[in-house]
Amino acid sequence: MICSFSFCVRNDVRQKARRKVRHSGFKMFPYSFSIGHFVTALCLFYLVSSLTGTEGACDPPPRLSYAVAKSDFGSTFENNRKIYYDCLPGYRSIPGMNKYVTCLGSSWSDPLIFCEAVKCGNPGEIQNGQIEEPINQTFGSRVVFKCNTGYNIINKLNYRDCQINGEWSNTVPICEAQMCPPPTAITDGDFSPQKDDYLYQNTVTFKCNKGLTLVGTAALVCTAHGNWSSEEPNCRDVVCDNPRVENGKKTSGFTGPYKLNYAVTFQCNDGFELTGPDTVTCTVNNVWEPPIPECRHVVCDNPRVENGKKTSGFTGPYKLNYAVTFQCNDGFELTGPDTVTCTVKNVWEPPIPECRPKVEKEGTENAEEPGNRVGVIVENRRLILQALVIQMSIINFFLESFFVL
Ligand SMILES: *[C@@H]1O[C@H](CO)[C@@H](O)[C@H](O)[C@H]1NC(C)=O
Ligand SMILES: *[C@@H]1O[C@H](CO)[C@@H](O)[C@H](O)[C@H]1NC(C)=O
Repeated sequence: MICSFSFCVRNDVRQKARRKVRHSGFKMFPYSFSIGHFVTALCLFYLVSSLTGTEGACDPPPRLSYAVAKSDFGSTFENNRKIYYDCLPGYRSIPGMNKYVTCLGSSWSDPLIFCEAVKCGNPGEIQNGQIEEPINQTFGSRVVFKCNTGYNIINKLNYRDCQINGEWSNTVPICEAQMCPPPTAITDGDFSPQKDDYLYQNTVTFKCNKGLTLVGTAALVCTAHGNWSSEEPNCRDVVCDNPRVENGKKTSGFTGPYKLNYAVTFQCNDGFELTGPDTVTCTVNNVWEPPIPECRHVVCDNPRVENGKKTSGFTGPYKLNYAVTFQCNDGFELTGPDTVTCTVKNVWEPPIPECRPKVEKEGTENAEEPGNRVGVIVENRRLILQALVIQMSIINFFLESFFVL
């Protein structure tokens, strides 16, 4: 119905023409131009092209992500037609590449990649700093610079952007070392080196005047925070007295002067015992720490047990580790172990036991029945107790009377 010149139009071309007319072809013409005229012209065009040997036509040229066609007006493009492209912003021509596609009969030649994204060069080296990974040098990307510990960026901007012209914006930032104020001067001492500026990781060393002791840390380091690693030391005349211990002797630290942190160790003579740690140290206030110990004669008191007697260790002096053994008199029993030993603090260990009266019962077999009366003889005291048994145990009785024999 659209094209009646079927005799002169090849089948495939006729279909193509039909599609064009239906969809977009006639929009390009003034409205007064009738569809009939247009179809006739189109069919004539195909007729002419088929007669002259130029076969087919192409659709509009392909859209590319990196380039735009310069002249793609029209809906069909004849065979061998070249359409040129311009690179999109942010892309640039690859030298030696043709920037066009060619209509080959009914389709376009495969577009080769003839534009590449703009890339910036090396974003630059930063001293005492780094560029944050990953680094992308493509147009539109940003590289961010960071200073190493102890260094501060002095620029307003810490980044560079890859611009459309292939140049990085801004400049490589500068990292400046952290500064510390000069240390405070100390009395009776000095520090070196003396400088105007102290930078990160610089060190100063303090020294005391002759004969004085440096108390504190001698070497200070400028930190990343801009302060010194520790307080300034001070210089003092630290000398402790020669430490002496009666009934003992030094085993180290024999000769003075006893300056700061000198240590002296003691040992007691035989039969004497140290009252504290054996080593003392001279401290900043000219004081030995811990206090100098004493050597104390180890002698325990003569141990006595009432109602009992010694079976060994009869005579003193009762020195360290002497042992005494006891036995109770008849009718008495020990309240603890029978042997005691003299220990370092002049104390018997375990504590001296006691001899307590043995309690015996007397009476009929069933004397312990509640309600019965029993006599209780406590041998040593020579007492006879008369008791009323309250429970089935001799321990629980009610004392009624007693007699001294
Ligand atoms: C670099 O950046 C461009 C543009 O932002 C992006 O398209 C590309 O994928 C990035 N490349 C890498 C390796 O990250
Ligand atoms: C130095 O300054 C830092 C941060 O303010 C602080 O944490 C540190 O304790 C300071 N050091 C000294 C030795 O004062």
